[in-house]
Amino acid sequence: MKVDDSGMQRPDMRRNRLTALLDMQYPLIQGPYGGGLSTVELLVSVSEAGGLGSFGANNLDGPSIAQLVDTIRARTRKAFAINLWVPGPQSDTSPAELARAIERMGRWYDLLGIEPPGVPSSCAGPAFEQQIEALLEVRPPVFSFVFGVPATHVLDKCRAHGIATIGTATTVAEAIILDRAGVDAIVASGFEAGGHRGSFLRPAEESLIGTLALVPQVVDSVTAPVIAAGGIADARGVAAALMLGAQGAQIGTAFLACAEANLPQPHRQAILSVPVKETVLTKAFSGRLARSVRNGLSDACAAGDLPLLPYPAQAWLINTMRSAAVSQDRDDLLSLSCGQAAGLVQGTSARELVGSIVSGLQELLT
Ligand SMILES: Cc1cc2nc3c(=O)[nH]c(=O)nc-3n(C[C@H](O)[C@H](O)[C@H](O)COP(=O)(O)O)c2cc1C
Repeated sequence: MKVDDSGMQRPDMRRNRLTALLDMQYPLIQGPYGGGLSTVELLVSVSEAGGLGSFGANNLDGPSIAQLVDTIRARTRKAFAINLWVPGPQSDTSPAELARAIERMGRWYDLLGIEPPGVPSSCAGPAFEQQIEALLEVRPPVFSFVFGVPATHVLDKCRAHGIATIGTATTVAEAIILDRAGVDAIVASGFEAGGHRGSFLRPAEESLIGTLALVPQVVDSVTAPVIAAGGIADARGVAAALMLGAQGAQIGTAFLACAEANLPQPHRQAILSVPVKETVLTKAFSGRLARSVRNGLSDACAAGDLPLLPYPAQAWLINTMRSAAVSQDRDDLLSLSCGQAAGLVQGTSARELVGSIVSGLQELLT
């Protein structure tokens, strides 16, 4: 904290424990996007602009993660984060259940004019252990994660290899567990946030706390620096997060709509149409609770008309429509992850967004 001429305390927007830890100029993190939505372009733009760019690598196997880190390093010497999903208890879906779900999807396949897929032998993504092995080998500057806490030996190796770790909490209790495990920084993710709720202690439906309430309580309960996430899309949001005691802000939705994110057009349009359209928390798109723009599929799910399998089978099922829905501009048949602050999103370039937040912050905090 600094004391200005009027004697008021104000947070230093440029330098704090978090910026030193993550080697960034401003306390601003571009949130990672899983499921293949991250781009190197966006990560590089944000890191080069003085924030920390992130890449969601949950769907990449070990060799692809190694290649990704090489590609990033060829584009920037700045710090960046690679994000993975810690595996929790997984529910198996039998081939018979999958076959029934595919049959119930018939009317949507007909709408898109595509053939129903065959039953896959597995819906599971790459093994976490293999991803971690690659990550420890290539040593990105920052490893962020969601849905749990990696094993102690993984966190120990990160520390030994100089990889800073960021865990994600949706409740104070989760933040305390991450803190005790020794993670270097903690994202406190309020329920305004776009994408999955990363809850791992209690069901996500019972872990819905807004950013304004969550952040100061996490700050009071942990020793690691706290990063506020959820509902932050401009300088006012970042200033508010710093006032609540966070040392940085993680912004997902606003960066996702930036040109460098290369988001499929129907998804980008949906984000830019909020608040005319609203967001909902739904399990429709993956079997896990996530915030998206409300559409035909989330409505069908709420009405019990959409087959609803557990994760990861549901994610596989909805993904079978993805490429056809994108090419046919059908935003009613796509997962449209998006946070509640989307109505503030401009859809400019990431460099401009970082610039406007930094200059706005300067004004607000002095
Ligand atoms: C499309 C999408 C995918 C996301 N995927 C991940 C992910 O894989 N891992 C993660 O830690 N956070 C993920 N998030 C959360 C963001 O990184 C960020 O914390 C969140 O979007 C912040 O809230 P905001 O959307 O209100 O800005 C995702 C968010 C979106 C919108």
